[in-house]
Amino acid sequence: MTQSITELENLSAVEMDAGSVFSGRASGTKIMAYSSPSTFTPATNPNYLFPDQSGDLIVWSLDNHDPLYIFGPQGSGKSCLVKELASRLNYPVFELTGHSRLEFPELAGHLSVKDGQMFFQYGPLSLAMKFGGLFLLNEIDLLDPSTAAVLNWILDGFPLCIPENGGELITPSPMFRFAATANTNGSSDETGLCHGTLRQNSAFVDRFWLCETGYPKADREVAPLAKIAPALPSALLSKMVEFASEVRKLFRGSGSESRAENLLDVAFSTRTLIRWARLAIKFRPPVKQGVSPINYALDRTLAFRASSESEAFLHELSQRFFNAESAGHN
Ligand SMILES: Nc1ncnc2c1ncn2[C@@H]1O[C@H](COP(=O)(O)OP(=O)(O)OP(=O)(O)O)[C@@H](O)[C@H]1O
Ligand SMILES: [Mg+2]
Repeated sequence: MTQSITELENLSAVEMDAGSVFSGRASGTKIMAYSSPSTFTPATNPNYLFPDQSGDLIVWSLDNHDPLYIFGPQGSGKSCLVKELASRLNYPVFELTGHSRLEFPELAGHLSVKDGQMFFQYGPLSLAMKFGGLFLLNEIDLLDPSTAAVLNWILDGFPLCIPENGGELITPSPMFRFAATANTNGSSDETGLCHGTLRQNSAFVDRFWLCETGYPKADREVAPLAKIAPALPSALLSKMVEFASEVRKLFRGSGSESRAENLLDVAFSTRTLIRWARLAIKFRPPVKQGVSPINYALDRTLAFRASSESEAFLHELSQRFFNAESAGHN
Protein backbone atom coordinates (compact mmCIF):
# COMPACT_ATOMS: atom_id res chain seq x y z
CA MET A 1 0.00 0.00 0.00
CA THR A 2 2.89 2.40 0.79
CA GLN A 3 4.07 2.01 -2.80
CA SER A 4 0.56 2.75 -4.11
CA ILE A 5 0.30 5.85 -1.90
CA THR A 6 3.62 7.10 -3.29
CA GLU A 7 2.25 6.52 -6.78
CA LEU A 8 -0.86 8.55 -5.94
CA GLU A 9 1.23 11.35 -4.41
CA ASN A 10 3.17 11.56 -7.67
CA LEU A 11 0.15 11.85 -9.97
CA SER A 12 0.56 14.73 -12.35
CA ALA A 13 -2.57 16.59 -13.49
CA VAL A 14 -2.66 17.80 -17.10
CA GLU A 15 -5.16 19.38 -19.45
CA MET A 16 -6.29 17.24 -22.38
CA ASP A 17 -8.42 18.12 -25.36
CA ALA A 18 -11.84 16.49 -24.73
CA GLY A 19 -12.53 16.00 -28.46
CA SER A 20 -9.19 14.31 -29.10
CA VAL A 21 -9.69 11.97 -26.14
CA PHE A 22 -13.25 10.88 -26.90
CA SER A 23 -13.75 11.22 -30.64
CA GLY A 24 -10.25 11.53 -32.04
CA ARG A 25 -10.98 15.09 -33.31
CA ALA A 26 -9.64 18.12 -31.45
CA SER A 27 -12.47 20.31 -30.10
CA GLY A 28 -10.60 23.02 -28.21
CA THR A 29 -12.49 22.06 -25.01
CA LYS A 30 -10.06 21.34 -22.22
CA ILE A 31 -10.62 18.55 -19.74
CA MET A 32 -8.58 17.81 -16.63
CA ALA A 33 -6.79 14.48 -16.67
CA TYR A 34 -3.56 12.82 -15.51
CA SER A 35 -0.40 12.52 -17.58
CA SER A 36 -0.20 8.73 -17.18
CA PRO A 37 -2.26 5.88 -15.73
CA SER A 38 -1.65 4.54 -12.21
CA THR A 39 -2.29 1.18 -10.56
CA PHE A 40 -5.80 2.46 -9.81
CA THR A 41 -6.66 3.49 -13.38
CA PRO A 42 -9.09 1.03 -15.00
CA ALA A 43 -7.81 -0.78 -18.08
CA THR A 44 -9.34 0.42 -21.35
CA ASN A 45 -11.77 -2.09 -22.89
CA PRO A 46 -10.72 -2.36 -26.55
CA ASN A 47 -14.27 -3.47 -27.48
CA TYR A 48 -15.90 -0.45 -25.88
CA LEU A 49 -18.02 1.98 -27.90
CA PHE A 50 -19.17 5.12 -26.08
CA PRO A 51 -22.99 5.21 -25.93
CA ASP A 52 -25.23 8.26 -26.47
CA GLN A 53 -25.20 9.18 -22.77
CA SER A 54 -21.42 9.71 -22.92
CA GLY A 55 -22.01 13.36 -23.83
CA ASP A 56 -23.63 13.94 -20.43
CA LEU A 57 -20.69 12.33 -18.72
CA ILE A 58 -18.10 14.28 -20.63
CA VAL A 59 -19.85 17.56 -19.83
CA TRP A 60 -20.06 16.43 -16.20
CA SER A 61 -16.36 15.68 -16.07
CA LEU A 62 -15.57 19.19 -17.37
CA ASP A 63 -17.31 20.55 -14.28
CA ASN A 64 -15.81 19.54 -10.96
CA HIS A 65 -18.54 20.50 -8.53
CA ASP A 66 -21.58 18.26 -8.75
CA PRO A 67 -21.60 14.59 -7.89
CA LEU A 68 -23.16 12.41 -10.59
CA TYR A 69 -25.95 9.81 -10.17
CA ILE A 70 -26.33 7.47 -13.17
CA PHE A 71 -29.40 5.27 -13.14
CA GLY A 72 -30.77 2.77 -15.60
CA PRO A 73 -31.61 -0.87 -16.18
CA GLN A 74 -29.41 -3.77 -15.12
CA GLY A 75 -26.32 -4.49 -17.17
CA SER A 76 -26.79 -1.45 -19.41
CA GLY A 77 -23.21 -0.28 -18.99
CA LYS A 78 -23.46 2.31 -16.19
CA SER A 79 -20.38 1.25 -14.24
CA CYS A 80 -18.27 0.57 -17.31
CA LEU A 81 -19.20 3.96 -18.81
CA VAL A 82 -17.67 5.71 -15.78
CA LYS A 83 -14.61 3.46 -15.84
CA GLU A 84 -14.06 3.84 -19.58
CA LEU A 85 -14.22 7.60 -19.21
CA ALA A 86 -11.72 7.41 -16.32
CA SER A 87 -9.39 5.14 -18.27
CA ARG A 88 -9.21 7.64 -21.17
CA LEU A 89 -8.28 10.39 -18.68
CA ASN A 90 -5.82 8.18 -16.72
CA TYR A 91 -7.96 8.82 -13.65
CA PRO A 92 -7.54 6.59 -10.57
CA VAL A 93 -10.89 5.02 -9.64
CA PHE A 94 -11.79 3.97 -6.10
CA GLU A 95 -14.84 1.78 -6.28
CA LEU A 96 -17.28 0.48 -3.69
CA THR A 97 -20.64 -1.29 -3.90
CA GLY A 98 -23.38 0.05 -1.65
CA HIS A 99 -25.36 -2.20 0.69
CA SER A 100 -27.88 -1.65 3.45
CA ARG A 101 -25.38 -2.28 6.27
CA LEU A 102 -22.63 -0.07 4.86
CA GLU A 103 -21.10 2.15 7.52
CA PHE A 104 -18.89 5.20 7.24
CA PRO A 105 -15.54 3.43 8.03
CA GLU A 106 -16.04 1.35 4.85
CA LEU A 107 -15.97 4.63 2.95
CA ALA A 108 -13.48 6.66 4.96
CA GLY A 109 -11.13 3.99 6.33
CA HIS A 110 -10.22 2.30 9.59
CA LEU A 111 -7.35 1.57 11.96
CA SER A 112 -5.30 -1.49 11.13
CA VAL A 113 -2.17 -3.24 12.43
CA LYS A 114 1.01 -4.07 10.51
CA ASP A 115 4.24 -5.40 12.05
CA GLY A 116 2.83 -4.65 15.50
CA GLN A 117 2.14 -1.01 14.58
CA MET A 118 -1.25 0.65 14.37
CA PHE A 119 -1.86 2.64 11.22
CA PHE A 120 -4.81 4.19 9.46
CA GLN A 121 -5.92 2.39 6.31
CA TYR A 122 -7.59 4.92 4.02
CA GLY A 123 -10.93 3.88 2.52
CA PRO A 124 -11.91 4.51 -1.11
CA LEU A 125 -13.62 7.84 -0.44
CA SER A 126 -10.64 9.21 1.53
CA LEU A 127 -8.19 8.11 -1.17
CA ALA A 128 -10.22 9.74 -3.93
CA MET A 129 -10.63 13.00 -1.96
CA LYS A 130 -7.02 13.17 -0.78
CA PHE A 131 -5.26 12.28 -4.04
CA GLY A 132 -7.76 13.54 -6.62
CA GLY A 133 -9.38 10.31 -7.82
CA LEU A 134 -12.83 9.32 -8.94
CA PHE A 135 -14.94 7.70 -6.23
CA LEU A 136 -17.43 5.30 -7.82
CA LEU A 137 -20.23 4.18 -5.53
CA ASN A 138 -22.16 1.43 -7.30
CA GLU A 139 -25.71 0.47 -6.30
CA ILE A 140 -26.10 3.65 -4.25
CA ASP A 141 -29.84 2.95 -3.92
CA LEU A 142 -29.07 -0.09 -1.73
CA LEU A 143 -27.74 2.23 0.99
CA ASP A 144 -29.72 2.76 4.11
CA PRO A 145 -30.92 6.37 3.68
CA SER A 146 -29.60 7.35 7.12
CA THR A 147 -26.11 6.13 6.16
CA ALA A 148 -26.38 7.88 2.82
CA ALA A 149 -27.16 11.14 4.62
CA VAL A 150 -23.70 11.18 6.24
CA LEU A 151 -22.37 11.77 2.73
CA ASN A 152 -24.30 15.04 2.34
CA TRP A 153 -21.44 17.05 3.77
CA ILE A 154 -18.97 15.53 1.29
CA LEU A 155 -21.41 15.92 -1.62
CA ASP A 156 -21.58 19.63 -0.73
CA GLY A 157 -17.81 19.84 -1.25
CA PHE A 158 -16.71 20.09 2.38
CA PRO A 159 -13.64 18.37 3.89
CA LEU A 160 -13.68 14.91 5.45
CA CYS A 161 -12.54 14.71 9.05
CA ILE A 162 -10.98 11.45 10.25
CA PRO A 163 -10.83 11.42 14.09
CA GLU A 164 -9.16 7.95 14.07
CA ASN A 165 -6.22 9.37 12.16
CA GLY A 166 -5.37 12.09 14.67
CA GLY A 167 -8.22 14.28 13.42
CA GLU A 168 -6.85 14.46 9.87
CA LEU A 169 -8.88 16.86 7.76
CA ILE A 170 -8.98 15.85 4.10
CA THR A 171 -9.77 18.86 1.93
CA PRO A 172 -11.10 17.54 -1.38
CA SER A 173 -8.54 17.75 -4.18
CA PRO A 174 -9.76 19.88 -7.12
CA MET A 175 -9.45 16.65 -9.16
CA PHE A 176 -11.82 14.70 -6.86
CA ARG A 177 -14.96 13.37 -8.58
CA PHE A 178 -17.93 11.51 -7.06
CA ALA A 179 -20.05 9.27 -9.30
CA ALA A 180 -22.77 6.86 -8.26
CA THR A 181 -24.72 4.23 -10.18
CA ALA A 182 -28.04 2.56 -9.45
CA ASN A 183 -30.92 0.74 -11.09
CA THR A 184 -33.45 3.21 -9.69
CA ASN A 185 -33.45 7.00 -9.54
CA GLY A 186 -33.53 6.86 -5.75
CA SER A 187 -37.30 7.19 -5.49
CA SER A 188 -37.83 3.40 -5.15
CA ASP A 189 -38.36 0.57 -7.58
CA GLU A 190 -41.40 0.62 -9.86
CA THR A 191 -40.67 -2.70 -11.57
CA GLY A 192 -40.52 -5.08 -8.62
CA LEU A 193 -37.20 -6.42 -9.99
CA CYS A 194 -34.70 -4.37 -8.01
CA HIS A 195 -35.06 -6.09 -4.64
CA GLY A 196 -33.17 -4.47 -1.83
CA THR A 197 -33.24 -0.97 -3.29
CA LEU A 198 -34.48 1.70 -0.91
CA ARG A 199 -36.19 5.01 -1.41
CA GLN A 200 -33.51 7.59 -0.69
CA ASN A 201 -33.89 10.83 1.20
CA SER A 202 -34.86 13.49 -1.34
CA ALA A 203 -32.37 16.03 0.09
CA PHE A 204 -29.64 13.46 -0.58
CA VAL A 205 -30.67 12.84 -4.20
CA ASP A 206 -31.09 16.59 -4.66
CA ARG A 207 -27.31 16.96 -4.38
CA PHE A 208 -26.63 14.98 -7.55
CA TRP A 209 -26.53 15.72 -11.24
CA LEU A 210 -28.69 12.92 -12.71
CA CYS A 211 -28.05 10.92 -15.86
CA GLU A 212 -30.40 8.22 -17.17
CA THR A 213 -29.05 5.34 -19.26
CA GLY A 214 -30.80 2.71 -21.32
CA TYR A 215 -29.69 -0.14 -23.51
CA PRO A 216 -27.64 1.03 -26.51
CA LYS A 217 -29.13 1.47 -29.97
CA ALA A 218 -28.79 -1.64 -32.15
CA ASP A 219 -25.83 -0.36 -34.22
CA ARG A 220 -23.94 0.56 -31.04
CA GLU A 221 -24.57 -2.89 -29.61
CA VAL A 222 -23.64 -4.93 -32.71
CA ALA A 223 -20.19 -3.35 -33.16
CA PRO A 224 -18.72 -4.27 -29.74
CA LEU A 225 -20.41 -7.67 -29.97
CA ALA A 226 -18.69 -8.32 -33.30
CA LYS A 227 -15.34 -7.63 -31.63
CA ILE A 228 -16.16 -9.86 -28.67
CA ALA A 229 -17.52 -12.73 -30.80
CA PRO A 230 -15.80 -12.48 -34.21
CA ALA A 231 -16.51 -16.17 -34.86
CA LEU A 232 -20.23 -15.43 -35.29
CA PRO A 233 -21.40 -14.15 -38.69
CA SER A 234 -22.38 -10.49 -38.66
CA ALA A 235 -25.90 -11.24 -39.93
CA LEU A 236 -26.41 -13.57 -36.97
CA LEU A 237 -25.06 -10.98 -34.51
CA SER A 238 -27.48 -8.38 -35.90
CA LYS A 239 -30.31 -10.89 -35.46
CA MET A 240 -29.25 -11.54 -31.86
CA VAL A 241 -29.30 -7.81 -31.11
CA GLU A 242 -32.71 -7.53 -32.79
CA PHE A 243 -33.93 -10.44 -30.66
CA ALA A 244 -32.61 -8.77 -27.48
CA SER A 245 -34.35 -5.56 -28.46
CA GLU A 246 -37.67 -7.39 -29.01
CA VAL A 247 -37.34 -9.13 -25.64
CA ARG A 248 -36.71 -5.74 -23.97
CA LYS A 249 -39.86 -4.34 -25.56
CA LEU A 250 -41.92 -7.37 -24.54
CA PHE A 251 -40.51 -7.03 -21.05
CA ARG A 252 -41.81 -3.47 -20.96
CA GLY A 253 -45.07 -4.54 -22.61
CA SER A 254 -44.49 -2.66 -25.85
CA GLY A 255 -43.16 -5.32 -28.23
CA SER A 256 -44.64 -6.14 -31.62
CA GLU A 257 -46.44 -9.10 -30.02
CA SER A 258 -47.22 -7.59 -26.65
CA ARG A 259 -50.47 -9.37 -26.04
CA ALA A 260 -50.92 -9.82 -22.29
CA GLU A 261 -49.97 -13.51 -22.47
CA ASN A 262 -46.70 -12.70 -24.24
CA LEU A 263 -45.23 -10.29 -21.75
CA LEU A 264 -41.87 -11.48 -20.53
CA ASP A 265 -40.61 -11.34 -16.96
CA VAL A 266 -36.87 -11.22 -17.73
CA ALA A 267 -34.89 -8.26 -19.04
CA PHE A 268 -32.19 -8.64 -21.69
CA SER A 269 -29.12 -6.74 -20.53
CA THR A 270 -26.01 -5.98 -22.58
CA ARG A 271 -24.21 -8.24 -20.13
CA THR A 272 -26.57 -11.11 -21.03
CA LEU A 273 -26.18 -10.41 -24.74
CA ILE A 274 -22.37 -10.63 -24.49
CA ARG A 275 -22.58 -13.87 -22.51
CA TRP A 276 -25.07 -15.30 -25.02
CA ALA A 277 -22.68 -14.65 -27.92
CA ARG A 278 -19.72 -16.11 -26.03
CA LEU A 279 -21.65 -19.25 -25.02
CA ALA A 280 -23.04 -19.71 -28.53
CA ILE A 281 -19.43 -20.06 -29.70
CA LYS A 282 -18.40 -22.29 -26.79
CA PHE A 283 -21.36 -24.63 -27.27
CA ARG A 284 -20.87 -25.05 -30.98
CA PRO A 285 -18.93 -28.33 -30.84
CA PRO A 286 -20.54 -30.06 -27.86
CA VAL A 287 -24.26 -29.49 -28.53
CA LYS A 288 -26.20 -32.54 -29.56
CA GLN A 289 -27.12 -32.85 -33.17
CA GLY A 290 -30.22 -30.94 -34.00
CA VAL A 291 -29.87 -28.52 -31.09
CA SER A 292 -28.98 -24.99 -32.09
CA PRO A 293 -26.10 -23.51 -30.05
CA ILE A 294 -27.96 -20.20 -30.19
CA ASN A 295 -30.98 -21.69 -28.43
CA TYR A 296 -28.83 -23.81 -26.13
CA ALA A 297 -26.83 -20.73 -25.08
CA LEU A 298 -30.00 -18.63 -24.77
CA ASP A 299 -31.35 -21.08 -22.16
CA ARG A 300 -28.17 -20.80 -20.13
CA THR A 301 -28.00 -17.03 -20.26
CA LEU A 302 -31.64 -15.99 -20.01
CA ALA A 303 -34.48 -18.49 -20.42
CA PHE A 304 -33.56 -20.66 -17.41
CA ARG A 305 -34.19 -17.73 -15.07
CA ALA A 306 -37.57 -16.87 -16.57
CA SER A 307 -40.94 -18.16 -15.33
CA SER A 308 -42.14 -21.27 -17.17
CA GLU A 309 -44.56 -19.18 -19.31
CA SER A 310 -41.84 -16.70 -20.24
CA GLU A 311 -39.38 -19.51 -20.93
CA ALA A 312 -41.83 -21.18 -23.32
CA PHE A 313 -42.46 -17.88 -25.07
CA LEU A 314 -38.71 -17.17 -25.38
CA HIS A 315 -38.28 -20.59 -27.03
CA GLU A 316 -41.10 -19.88 -29.45
CA LEU A 317 -39.68 -16.45 -30.29
CA SER A 318 -36.14 -17.74 -30.79
CA GLN A 319 -37.38 -20.51 -33.09
CA ARG A 320 -38.94 -17.81 -35.23
CA PHE A 321 -35.89 -15.53 -35.14
CA PHE A 322 -33.22 -18.16 -35.62
CA ASN A 323 -34.53 -20.38 -38.37
CA ALA A 324 -32.63 -23.20 -40.08
CA GLU A 325 -30.65 -20.73 -42.16
CA SER A 326 -29.07 -18.86 -39.21
CA ALA A 327 -28.64 -22.19 -37.43
CA GLY A 328 -26.40 -23.01 -40.42
CA HIS A 329 -23.43 -21.52 -38.60
CA ASN A 330 -24.19 -23.95 -35.80
N1 LIG B 1 -20.86 0.34 -24.92
C1 LIG B 1 -20.36 -0.85 -24.58
N2 LIG B 1 -19.39 -1.45 -25.29
C2 LIG B 1 -18.91 -2.65 -24.93
N3 LIG B 1 -19.30 -3.34 -23.83
C3 LIG B 1 -20.26 -2.80 -23.08
C4 LIG B 1 -20.85 -1.54 -23.40
N4 LIG B 1 -21.80 -1.23 -22.48
C5 LIG B 1 -21.79 -2.28 -21.62
N5 LIG B 1 -20.87 -3.19 -21.96
C6 LIG B 1 -20.60 -4.44 -21.25
O1 LIG B 1 -21.80 -4.82 -20.62
C7 LIG B 1 -21.54 -5.40 -19.34
C8 LIG B 1 -22.39 -4.72 -18.28
O2 LIG B 1 -21.88 -3.41 -18.04
P1 LIG B 1 -21.94 -2.76 -16.57
O3 LIG B 1 -21.50 -3.72 -15.53
O4 LIG B 1 -21.22 -1.47 -16.67
O5 LIG B 1 -23.50 -2.51 -16.42
P2 LIG B 1 -24.31 -1.81 -15.22
O6 LIG B 1 -25.36 -1.00 -15.87
O7 LIG B 1 -23.36 -1.13 -14.30
O8 LIG B 1 -24.95 -3.09 -14.54
P3 LIG B 1 -25.65 -3.22 -13.06
O9 LIG B 1 -26.99 -2.55 -13.14
O10 LIG B 1 -25.79 -4.69 -12.87
O11 LIG B 1 -24.72 -2.56 -12.08
C9 LIG B 1 -20.03 -5.30 -19.10
O12 LIG B 1 -19.45 -6.53 -19.40
C10 LIG B 1 -19.59 -4.24 -20.11
O13 LIG B 1 -18.27 -4.46 -20.49
MG1 LIG C 1 -22.96 -1.47 -12.25
